Formats: sequence, structure tokens, C-alpha cells
Amino acid sequence: MPALALRQGVAVTLPGPADFTAWRQAARGLVAAEIPPEQAEWVVAGELPGLLAEAPAPPPSAAPFSVPRAFLDQAEIAIRHSDRERFALLYGLLWRLTHGERHLMQAATDPAVIRLSALVKAVRRDAHKMHAFVRFREVQAEDGPRHIAWFEPDHHIEEAEADFFVRRFASLRWSIVTPRRSVAWDGQALDFGPGGRRADVPPDDAMEPLWRAYYASIFNPARLKPGAMRAEMPRKYWRSLPEAAEIPRLMAEAPRRVAEMVERAAAAPNPRPQKPRHLSMPPHVLRDMPTPIDAPADPAMALAALREELLSRPDLPAFAARATQPVFGEGPVGAALMFVGEQPGDEEDIAGRPFVGPAGRLLDRALAQAGVERRDAYLTNAVKHFKFTPTGKRRIHQSPDAGDITYYRPFLAREVAAVAPRLVVSLGASALTALTGKKLPVLKTRGQVVTALGGQPVFATVHPSYLLRLPDAEAQAAGFADFVADLRAAQAHTQGL
Ligand code: URA
Repeated sequence: MPALALRQGVAVTLPGPADFTAWRQAARGLVAAEIPPEQAEWVVAGELPGLLAEAPAPPPSAAPFSVPRAFLDQAEIAIRHSDRERFALLYGLLWRLTHGERHLMQAATDPAVIRLSALVKAVRRDAHKMHAFVRFREVQAEDGPRHIAWFEPDHHIEEAEADFFVRRFASLRWSIVTPRRSVAWDGQALDFGPGGRRADVPPDDAMEPLWRAYYASIFNPARLKPGAMRAEMPRKYWRSLPEAAEIPRLMAEAPRRVAEMVERAAAAPNPRPQKPRHLSMPPHVLRDMPTPIDAPADPAMALAALREELLSRPDLPAFAARATQPVFGEGPVGAALMFVGEQPGDEEDIAGRPFVGPAGRLLDRALAQAGVERRDAYLTNAVKHFKFTPTGKRRIHQSPDAGDITYYRPFLAREVAAVAPRLVVSLGASALTALTGKKLPVLKTRGQVVTALGGQPVFATVHPSYLLRLPDAEAQAAGFADFVADLRAAQAHTQGL
């Protein structure tokens, strides 16, 4: 690749604003040619016309070099940031990593390392907003319905996040239009094009009244914090969210509604003070426990509110940001049996559905043998995001810790209250702890009915992946038979209730 040597060094033109492969190739060339960061200039094609040059290709004899994975992983995300200095920042770090500072990424106080991590965080946050705030409008095209959404990202995330929407809406035909880019999915392939205008996206569709009614119903005036609300859902997103049309009215009405709530509470008879449960638990655990939650008046709406809340919470554990999406429960409200597993695995994370991977297939077989219809049951998990350790191309399941279980427990409690099953079946230790608030030994408790913090009966059994880990085929067959027997017993229990 020819290089254009400027008086002050080399100018590199990248084909796109977030093209990591091109940046990486050019940067390798610059390092091999010993061009120091202050002599490298980075531009994006089309942004500064006239300055067209290419980075030098590594000379044939250049020794290959390697850089820490932690740098590459972060650089691949940071390059999507809209900061003009991002390429130079990355090249400066690469230069230092290859010139005697191999352990630079561990220097947590180094200003360049800190800056890199800030860029990564900002890009992740932007992606999270895109996942939560893209709203499709249905339009009738000549060849059938198509869904179109307008979104204004702060950073160059359109291409990187397109896969998220493909996985989520694989069977729809959709386009997301942003000021810089448009992304279209026809059910088979992605197509990227130039940006568009908000006016290209229709403002209304039949779903809007539903979104608005839903938002108004979950809006709690007593919790109104306009500052936090604006930070979490900046005004620029309001315009494309159908439910946002309700925000000004709901905000204006909030003080009156709070006053009414206070009046109603004062007029109501004093509730009897409740004896705290499980006094043997340490105080911080008690604080995090849900008090028994009444079944909501509209369970379907309550479950929808739960979903929406999980999609946009700012305080999710760090691992949630690496997951593709939260995985919600599925099944009918009022199901006789509700199964609670530990957390979604790799396949569940991608599909956005619980129990569709290896453990789910084993559970399906056991349910079939026990005569339980999967579609009649409600299946969910104690933890709603996939927690994993990335190793090369694989994502290795990491067990949730006590803090993770405590964090998601209120969601599970609300889900159980909304589904209101006759019997909850806990699959494995995490589910049993999440439901009961106690660390009960699974193998000793299996087959017994204990009480959830919310008062519901919980039938304890093992997790299907426990069966997959049994040492040999014989043990697995026996373990499977015992598991099927547990499922039969759970079903029989619902019939006797
Ligand atoms: N394991 C679980 O606990 N839940 C799932 O959804 C899948 C595997």
C-alpha cells in the first residue's frame, strides 16, 4: 500500500468512521514502519476531502507483533466513539504497548488508559440506549408490511448494533434510520446505506395508543425525578417514543397525584406492623428482600412493565451490558407450574428465550416424559442476563454470585406474583436461594415444598445441567429418571392443591 509522506509524517484515510479492521491494518503498518504517534494523522474518507493517503503496509521483513487482548477488545468498541481523537488515542496506546510498555493496560491511573475506558463506557451506554429506545412503526410497502424506526445515536454504533436487532426481530422486515446511516433487514441479509431524516420515518402507527396507555399505567408520580428521567431518557429520544407524548402531561399531573396518594394513605386504617421474616439473615440481606407482593390487577401489563424496566435500568450489574439482551420468562399467566432456572446461557442470550440451549433441551425431554406440556408452564430464570467469561470465540458460563441473585430478586418476586402459579419449581441452587432467600442445600431439599419469600409454595429439584455433569451414562440415566419423577411429583402436587 503506498503511503503519502507528509512533511509532518503520514496521513491515513480510513474508509469508515468505525472501521476497526482498516484501523488495525493501518496501525500495524505504521508500527512496522516505525512511525511514531505524533507523525501519524488519521482521517475518515469523505470527512476531510482532499487528504487522501494510505498507511504504509508492513515491510515484508517486519517481525509480527502481538498486543494484549484487553487492548484489542476495548479498541474495537472505542473506535465507534464520535471523538475525533479516537484513532490517535488508540494508535498512541498501541505504540506504547509495542515499545516497552507491554503491561500498559494494567496501569489503571494512566490518562490514556482512563480515556480509553471512558470511550468504551460511552459507546456501551449509547448501544444500551439504542436497544431500549428504538421503536418501530409499521408501514405498508408494496410487498407487504415493513417496520421503520428513527434513532439518533451519539456514536458510530449502527453497524455494530445491527446484529442485536436481527436477532431480536429476525422474522420482521425492518429499517433503522439515523442521521448518518440506515440499516435495513429483509429477513435474510443486512444492508447499510446513507443516513436519512426524521421526516422519512412515519410518525404514527396502530401500536402507539397501546404504548401510551402502557406507559401511563406504569408511571409512578411519587417516584418522579425529572433530572434522572432526562439523564436516562434524554429529550432527543422522546420525539421518537410514542409513550413519550405522555411525559409532559404525567409530569404536570404528578404533584396533584402524589398529594392524592398521601391523602388516601392518611385516610386508610393503619396496617398492622409486620413481623420481619427470616431474622437470622444478615441485615443487608433483609433490606434487599421483597416484602410479599400482591398479584397485580393486570398481570400481563405488570410483566410488560417488568420487561421494559429491565431493558432500560441504569444500575444493572456490569455483566448485563455484555449480554445481548435480558431474557424474560415465557408462558401463560396463571400457569399451574412455574419453573425457575438460574440464568440464561449462551443460546438463550442470543434467542432471547429461556431454556432453549442444551439444559433446555434436557428439560424438554424430562417434561415430556413427566407428561407436563411445556407450553402450559411458565419458564423463567432467577438472573435475567447471561453472565459469562469471554475466552476466544466462546463465552463460558459464569455462575451468578449472591449479589447478582439479590439484585434480580425483586424482579423475580414481581414475576412470580404476576404469574401467580399454583406451584413454583426451583431448578438448582441459585433459583432456590433467589426464591426463598435462604441458602438451602438442593440435594437435601429436593422433593420438598418450601415457602418463597412472597409466600408461594416452592418445590425444589436439581437443575437440568446438573444431570449433564454426572460422571457417566449410567449415573446420567438414573439422574434423569429421578428428575422426571420430581417433575411428576410437582405436577401431582398442583392437582392436589
Ligand atoms: N439454564 C438456566 O438456568 N436457564 C436457562 O434459561 C438456560 C439454561
